[in-house]
Amino acid sequence: MSKPAILVARAVFPEVIALLEQHFQVDDNQADLPLTSQDLAQRLQGKTGALTTGSERIDAAALDAAPSLRICANMAVGFNNFDVQAMTVRGVLGTNTPDVLTESTADFGFALLMAAARRVSESEHYLRAGKWGRWSYDLFAGSEVHGSTLGILGMGRIGQGIARRGAHGFGMKVIYHNRSRLSRQLEADCRARYVDKDELLETSDHLVLVLPYSPASHHAIGAAELARMKRTATLINIARGGIVDDAALALALREGRIAAAGLDVFEGEPKVHPGLLDVPNVVLTPHIASATTPTRMAMAKLAAENLIAFLGGGRPLTPINPEVLK
Ligand code: GLV
Repeated sequence: MSKPAILVARAVFPEVIALLEQHFQVDDNQADLPLTSQDLAQRLQGKTGALTTGSERIDAAALDAAPSLRICANMAVGFNNFDVQAMTVRGVLGTNTPDVLTESTADFGFALLMAAARRVSESEHYLRAGKWGRWSYDLFAGSEVHGSTLGILGMGRIGQGIARRGAHGFGMKVIYHNRSRLSRQLEADCRARYVDKDELLETSDHLVLVLPYSPASHHAIGAAELARMKRTATLINIARGGIVDDAALALALREGRIAAAGLDVFEGEPKVHPGLLDVPNVVLTPHIASATTPTRMAMAKLAAENLIAFLGGGRPLTPINPEVLK
């Protein structure tokens, strides 16, 4: 029997391609050439499965070009690149890669928080530019991290990981806002207190965004929300571009309406709002929060295992729209 044909839309670890080749006829993109939406639709034709990343948009047009497609396995926990409704209607399963990236991503959220609050990037640029003349009492004086109030918007697994780091590692008071409240047990584990969004904005010394992107979370942090924050606050976005209004944030940073920000995701990335590129008090990273080698390997393997299990007639490990399985 011939093996099912799959597309691996972006370059991944060669070991993962080798694993997939044991089960499938693999059309890979190890040269990592950019695929336009037309290229993607064309490469999906005749494929039963696809391994995608957040860069590939799987929408009605892509799905209609690929009527034999049965599964898209995203190598990401977020799946706002999928039109899940269009997939479900056509009986196409989507899977993502939760859990395996939780701790590394929470580590990185904390790294950005520390870097922004303690002005790590800004002071490094100053040093590299040869501007460091001598010590002075207020040279790059930032804001306190230990003992301060950590706010978290979006309290899923990654939010909880950040809360634990803050509460147990840095003695921070943790407050959070989420669509639904955590169980008492989880709140106790995270030492986190549920508050409404206004209290979160007004009370946090450091506010970390970890909520999924959806039309409802578009510009959840815009000019009005930034205006409610403390002038000494830092804002960290490791969630998705579009949750923050980047133009409003650039202005707030320039005018000192909040102290600093750390951003790993951007509206329209890989483009970055030009207003963010020339304000000093923001740490900018290229969507790397889950990027440790072991974590990226675990994500790629989980995406591959989802394809192998489902197309082999078994249960996928991490389905997004399990109703397709019925
Ligand atoms: C990264 O942004 C992911 O969703 O895994």
